Amino acid sequence: MDVSFKQVNFHYEAVGQDKIVGLNDVTFEIPANQTVAVIGETGSGKSTLVQHLNGLLVPTSGEVTVGGFKVSAKKKQRASVKRDIGYLFQYPEDQLFADTVKEEIGYSLQWLGLPSVEIDKRINHVMDETGLDKELQSRSPFHLSGGQQRRVAIASVLILRPKLLILDEPGAGLDPVSRIEMMDLFMKYKQTNQASIWMVSHSMEDVAGYADYCIHMHEGTVREVGKVESILTQSNLILPQAMQFAKDLRPDQQPPFLRSTQALVDWITTDFMSKSNE
Ligand SMILES: Nc1ncnc2c1ncn2[C@@H]1O[C@H](COP(=O)(O)OP(=O)(O)OP(=O)(O)O)[C@@H](O)[C@H]1O
Ligand SMILES: [Mg+2]
Repeated sequence: MDVSFKQVNFHYEAVGQDKIVGLNDVTFEIPANQTVAVIGETGSGKSTLVQHLNGLLVPTSGEVTVGGFKVSAKKKQRASVKRDIGYLFQYPEDQLFADTVKEEIGYSLQWLGLPSVEIDKRINHVMDETGLDKELQSRSPFHLSGGQQRRVAIASVLILRPKLLILDEPGAGLDPVSRIEMMDLFMKYKQTNQASIWMVSHSMEDVAGYADYCIHMHEGTVREVGKVESILTQSNLILPQAMQFAKDLRPDQQPPFLRSTQALVDWITTDFMSKSNE
């Protein structure tokens, strides 16, 4: 789903308090089927921005369109857009509520009026997809490990097969191996379902490793937006380790865009070595 923001302003209003600026004149367009990283310091408006994609928040002024449809405050319209958009909150396991894993994962399907055979089929499929053992179906989600709980929360979002998936700091609190497994899971989902992924991230490794586009927020405004290659090679952001290493090797030049340590090794053995031998 392509996304467009046109001069979007958003204020938080609380009784007896001044308005707080959430978004300030935000304008950009991002094509469909991309992985988009939203970065920026704490309080810069990242969560506020992505909550406009599924109508959780609606602009105070300006317009947001997703997949060609205006995201509006009207309940009916919001419901139809929302079905295509999955939102995984930060620490999604905190929102688990059902008695069993099966109920938790299948909960959102109840409203679609599907036959129970079909519901079971979908639950089995999404448990496979998220690496959850089917034996866990009858267990309480509260008695699983932290990593398993995160997977259950992910499965409960993916079961609706969203065309656009919003991830607010998906790797927070996970060990490095689990982070990689989870990002791989999302990338596979994206490929097999031609979906868009929007992820809020503080990890520049994840931004370089997975993103196609990057939106850099600062105090509610978009400081930079564009292809991840150009943002990472041209801005003053803290670089991912591989790119910082390359920059240290050749400080007089713009660093190459490198997605991983392997890309750094390839760059050293080809580009860097050949230029050093000239
Ligand atoms: N519910 C709310 N009511 C009032 N102000 C809010 C609310 N949520 C966020 N804000 C304010 O809006 C601004 C943007 O917040 P937002 O949560 O979008 O930042 P963020 O970039 O996601 O930060 P973090 O990295 O800490 O999650 C901040 O000044 C924040 O204090
Ligand atoms: Mg946030």
